[in-house]
Amino acid sequence: MDPDITFRYEPVPEDCAAVRAIVESTGFFNPAEIEIAVELVEDCLEFGEASEYYFVFAERDGAVAGYTCYGPIDGTEGSFDLYWIAVDHGRRSQGLGRVLMRETEGIVRAAGGRRIYAETSGREQYEPTRCFYERLGFSRETQLRDFYAPGDDKVFYVKAL
Ligand SMILES: CC(C)(COP(=O)(O)OP(=O)(O)OC[C@H]1O[C@@H](n2cnc3c(N)ncnc32)[C@H](O)[C@@H]1OP(=O)(O)O)[C@@H](O)C(=O)NCCC(=O)NCCS
Repeated sequence: MDPDITFRYEPVPEDCAAVRAIVESTGFFNPAEIEIAVELVEDCLEFGEASEYYFVFAERDGAVAGYTCYGPIDGTEGSFDLYWIAVDHGRRSQGLGRVLMRETEGIVRAAGGRRIYAETSGREQYEPTRCFYERLGFSRETQLRDFYAPGDDKVFYVKAL
């Protein structure tokens, strides 16, 4: 792990642009998804904890290099959703996603979280993402066929903490 990486947990207004730049850089998300990623930051800035969106930002030299967004799932005891994880394209495959998840899982566990859920696409493009979750100890729980579009399934992963 890069020793110069630091974590930050409170969003600041500049994170809207940083998150937009990171999710765009990945080439994985369509314009509507990019807007949703930014809206989660805006909601947290406006409503704080009431938004139920929480963040871990990984920074290097004052710039955000990757982040997670997660939160408790209403009506459950200790189940959390991982809403988003993205690492700047230029920093992928260097261990940042792994340390971001380790940090996020530690916080979730300390908050009483038992299980963390991640959803992704079953498309070929997301094979590296599915490998990432599996390497980090998530198990493939179930799959909703044609969820996103014909031929584009939704795959659910879960990790017991
Ligand atoms: C998925 C993502 C967050 C992973 O972050 P990362 O920093 O690239 O991943 P890491 O370098 O920490 O890799 C952690 C593990 O995942 C595996 N992995 C990462 N990228 C992989 C790839 N392209 N293919 C196969 N395995 C991969 C690695 O083997 C590694 O395991 P190891 O440490 O045992 O070798 C990042 O690549 C990303 O932002 N992807 C695009 C956006 C995305 O898909 N987000 C999830 C939305 S559903």
